[in-house]
Amino acid sequence: MNPNIKSFSIDKWPELTIPLYSDGLENIENRVIRLLEVMTLEEKVGQIIQPEILNITSDEIRQYHIGSVLNGGNGRPNRDIHASVDDWLEWADSFYEASVDTSAGRTAIPIIWGIDAIHGNSALYGATIFPHNIGLGAANNLELMKEIGRITALETSVIGLDWTFAPTVAVARDSRWGRTYESLSEDSAIVALLSKAAVTGLQGDITDKNTFFSKGRIIATAKHFIADGATESGIDQGDAKVDVDELINVHAQGFFSTLIAGVQTVMVSYSKLNGIRMHGHKELITDVLKDKLGFDGIVVSDFNGHAMIPGCSKMDCPQAINAGIDLFMVPKDWKGFYTSTIEHVRSGRVTQQRLNDAVGRILRVKMRAGLFEAGRPSSRPIAGKVDLLGSKDNRGVARQAVRESLVLLKNNNSTLPLNPKQNILITGAGADDIVMQVGGWSLNWQGTGLNNTDFKGATSIYSGIKNVVNSVGGHPIYSEDGSYTIKPNVAVVIFGETPYAEFQGDRENLMLWSNYENSLKALKRYKKEGIKTVSIFLSGRPLWVSQHINASDSFVVAWLPGSEGQGIADVIFSNESGDINFDFTGKLSFSWPRIAVQDGLNKGEAGYKPLFELGYGLSYKNNKNLEQLSEDSGLSVEAHRDLLASVFFKEGQSVSSSRLYIGDNTDMRTKTEGMRFVSSASNAISVNSIDRYRQEDAKELIWNGAENAFIFIRNYPPQDFSNQVERGDSIVIELNVIQPPTGKMNLKISSTGKGVTASVDITDVLRKLAGEGWTKLSIPLQYFNDGKLDFTKINMPMRLQTSKAAHIIIYDVRYGVAEGITVKCN
Ligand code: BGC
Ligand code: BGC
Repeated sequence: MNPNIKSFSIDKWPELTIPLYSDGLENIENRVIRLLEVMTLEEKVGQIIQPEILNITSDEIRQYHIGSVLNGGNGRPNRDIHASVDDWLEWADSFYEASVDTSAGRTAIPIIWGIDAIHGNSALYGATIFPHNIGLGAANNLELMKEIGRITALETSVIGLDWTFAPTVAVARDSRWGRTYESLSEDSAIVALLSKAAVTGLQGDITDKNTFFSKGRIIATAKHFIADGATESGIDQGDAKVDVDELINVHAQGFFSTLIAGVQTVMVSYSKLNGIRMHGHKELITDVLKDKLGFDGIVVSDFNGHAMIPGCSKMDCPQAINAGIDLFMVPKDWKGFYTSTIEHVRSGRVTQQRLNDAVGRILRVKMRAGLFEAGRPSSRPIAGKVDLLGSKDNRGVARQAVRESLVLLKNNNSTLPLNPKQNILITGAGADDIVMQVGGWSLNWQGTGLNNTDFKGATSIYSGIKNVVNSVGGHPIYSEDGSYTIKPNVAVVIFGETPYAEFQGDRENLMLWSNYENSLKALKRYKKEGIKTVSIFLSGRPLWVSQHINASDSFVVAWLPGSEGQGIADVIFSNESGDINFDFTGKLSFSWPRIAVQDGLNKGEAGYKPLFELGYGLSYKNNKNLEQLSEDSGLSVEAHRDLLASVFFKEGQSVSSSRLYIGDNTDMRTKTEGMRFVSSASNAISVNSIDRYRQEDAKELIWNGAENAFIFIRNYPPQDFSNQVERGDSIVIELNVIQPPTGKMNLKISSTGKGVTASVDITDVLRKLAGEGWTKLSIPLQYFNDGKLDFTKINMPMRLQTSKAAHIIIYDVRYGVAEGITVKCN
């Protein structure tokens, strides 16, 4: 007997009663059977494959009978993050028409398009962007959650799409995980209730045929099955070591509740469960989820997730089909998968019965969602209604969600609410930065490389404050560098994490790693000058910020609030006469750490001793002063220093306010953000996103030697690195030199002002590194300190330039402690 069946003892799992309306369902089942009878093998196999929209054409959809497409985190019509509603509809129509083409005896089956509308239809330019789940867990309001689901479905229907890969029902148990913000809570009860409400909002009421998939509703996904939030050390896609009781009592709760709400699809987790990849876990997918729990919808794989099963590749994986996955997200290599799967069915390695089960489920869900009757995407009732997109009403609900998600950790001497008539200084990296507010999965996958102007109709936290203060005739002072001429009564410092998604967000500990020093310096300075300090903390997880809390009179956690920054001013200001407008109601849905390396940080775990418990949150009515906190982070001095390194580029993506550009003689500046492949205007340099450990985590740079060409990082606004120079840090580049430059290559750093550039010749060291594989190259910043370069105002922390040929792959660029090969200058 398979040991897994024993360890996941089927008997312990409940048989769920799913209260699906019954009227007309029999008819659907009969139609499914009839269709299966007429479909060819090729049609069936095409039905179970989901390519990425940028890797397939409509003709190929017709030819291969493709049943579904997705747009990945960076996939947009015409590769344009500002793609218009018409662009989306045009693409949706053309895919749809190919899918229902009946020429040459094809069976017409409408295609279904899935999108990560995970906090609003956040991939769409101009859409309402709600707080990420972690904030909604703090708000913990079922009606609100339902409304958010309804609006997300509506704003997705505007572009004619059918299906969102949400809600995430992960119960994140280790906040070092880069996807903690996608989780509603460490508490499975909160996850279960809120995700159930989200599904009802997205799909409509399961018990009522007239609202279930009524107009403007879309298909929801419960993800990622199962225990994605339980991986060891919070490593994304890692191994979850849990027994059956914990699996059922904690990690399955969000699946039970959403299945009961009628969720029609479940996405399998990349992670392993006790050493076994979930994508190959037949006992849990088939025996538990389908047979015992009674799920009759689609089990969808994650982005190339099948390829992680030992013995599988992106193009070939009968194991995952046999484990019970019905629909395969094979973004690029779908043709190979199509061919190999047809062979496996012919040879009997995958049975007809298994294939029919998979296809039958896909057809069933398409029918339940009404896709067979819906017609062309652009002809559907909500399609093209641009006035519904980011409408005032929808934004109003998002703004309410922001208000309710705020958690007040400290409010000594009732510093808040602020009277708008005071002299108020607003500063900090997040003050006027919608990009930091929205976080990852916003317009693009990582949420990096964007500007405020990319978020049409959104309000930054500063603009929200300005609106309130101006309305009573006051004048907020916004100061980018924190300085002031008129001494303010109070300083509002807005800071925190910069965007990331998935594994890029994994951290080794719970220390805040972005804008730590600057924000702390500012808070301490204001305190010393007798100015009251209010911190607004933007973060995708609870982090160790005790130093900042000590330096603040009030400390508000705003999580990743999304596009409606106004919600913050709604709460932190009183009216002119001092009356409260809105009180704080948010409560921590995650326990807050006392040190940056804390274990047992989930309520109920042995040794549970957080700084602030699950459920903590002050309010105006219920306030108490907080004592000074210990400032021992639990980390070594070296670890601290390493954390304070300034990272510009990490795992193939630019970080924080950095941008990666290329240029040549024709055009000095070509954007690379969000593009898998891009070359400079005259093709002298090209950049290709390639995989080192994970998808697209490195950039391959090829100089063709035709003319001068370069790659460079810009940061906005210019940053002060004088501390780093003083303490002897280096620029550290993790790279792989495939072919060293055939002529001189310079590494340059520039500062603003007179546009000063300092440069170091790195040709020789690159030649030595050629063929050595991955290494770290360190060049002390001191070598660039020629007395002209202004290290307090660096706007280009790195530029690599040559007019000759070269081929280099880069993985990470930072200013920090020297590692690997250190260049010695004379
Ligand atoms: C993520 C999923 C997401 C999918 C499609 C994967 O990398 O794990 O949550 O739905 O990509 O973008
Ligand atoms: C997808 C992710 C994927 C990433 C890297 C994004 O477009 O949404 O699921 O992991 O690309 O390829």
